[in-house]
Amino acid sequence: MKAVGGFLKEKFRDQGKDQSACGPGISMTMPELTDSEFNQLSQLVYQHAGIHLPPQKKELVRSRLTKFIRSRKLGSFQAYYHLVLEDASGLELINLLDAISTNMTSFWREPKHFEFLGQELLPALRQKSKGAPQWRLWSAGCSSGEEPYTMAMVLMDKVNHKDLSGVKIYASDINTQVLNQAQRGIYPISRVEPLSQEWRRRFFQKGVNQWEGFVRVKPEVKQLVEFFRFNLMDSFRFKEEFDIIFCRNVMIYFEKATQTELVKKFYQCLKPGGYLFIGHSESLCNVSHQFAYVKPTIYRK
Ligand SMILES: C[S@@+](CC[C@H](N)C(=O)[O-])C[C@H]1O[C@@H](n2cnc3c(N)ncnc32)[C@H](O)[C@@H]1O
Repeated sequence: MKAVGGFLKEKFRDQGKDQSACGPGISMTMPELTDSEFNQLSQLVYQHAGIHLPPQKKELVRSRLTKFIRSRKLGSFQAYYHLVLEDASGLELINLLDAISTNMTSFWREPKHFEFLGQELLPALRQKSKGAPQWRLWSAGCSSGEEPYTMAMVLMDKVNHKDLSGVKIYASDINTQVLNQAQRGIYPISRVEPLSQEWRRRFFQKGVNQWEGFVRVKPEVKQLVEFFRFNLMDSFRFKEEFDIIFCRNVMIYFEKATQTELVKKFYQCLKPGGYLFIGHSESLCNVSHQFAYVKPTIYRK
């Protein structure tokens, strides 16, 4: 497999930058996070991202935010809280939300969704569409890109190349760091293990020399996906309606009222007959909504 010049030139320096701040001895200098500081910070995160941080998450918050206390040479979490509040640029808040959001993801995660998409949903949509399809898909809470890229691979596998020219996958997240990774589309080779050998060859380029051990998503896959930063708590003002929305393993971080509001917004921005996919461990059971149930974790407007 040939490596492309741009791939060789890619710089990876900012990958894993956060972890490097956690050097040996960190446990000795970790500042105390009091209950009231935890409450203030979790309230701030809740207000801005809808993410609910129960008291059990206190230790996690402390370990994820300690790097800011150190790098900004602050004496306490109280001082950090005020720094975030008073930062008119909003950058400190972005960094805080980046650090708090949990971004676990993988290619071909929860395979049943991709099987349904490829074997049932796309053929059904294809039958309905007159001329070249103009489908709009959205990976809402896309993390580092594995989910929307898997959606793109399924599309490329099932639909003729020429029929994909009018198709777009939008992919959004609140976390700027994972979005940068997603946009770059470069992954350690171990990340593509869930994909078949054939798909790895078809959809990825292999790194050589200093990029040995990495793969890059091929440009034809990338061009189907458009990444943007978007907070799901914000109002949805999209120009187009969607055919399919994946919002998987995102709502688990939200309270029921926030989930209900979000599901309502998804309903409103889907085309009639459009589909919503949620994570396998999630459910709309206790959420009031207007969707029709298709199968577990798949709903239709
Ligand atoms: C666990 S990942 C799920 C990634 C992918 N959907 C999957 O299932 O593999 C959850 C993602 O939701 C994002 N997220 C959390 N709160 C959000 C919000 N208010 N707006 C947008 N994205 C949010 C996080 O940054 C994170 O990348």
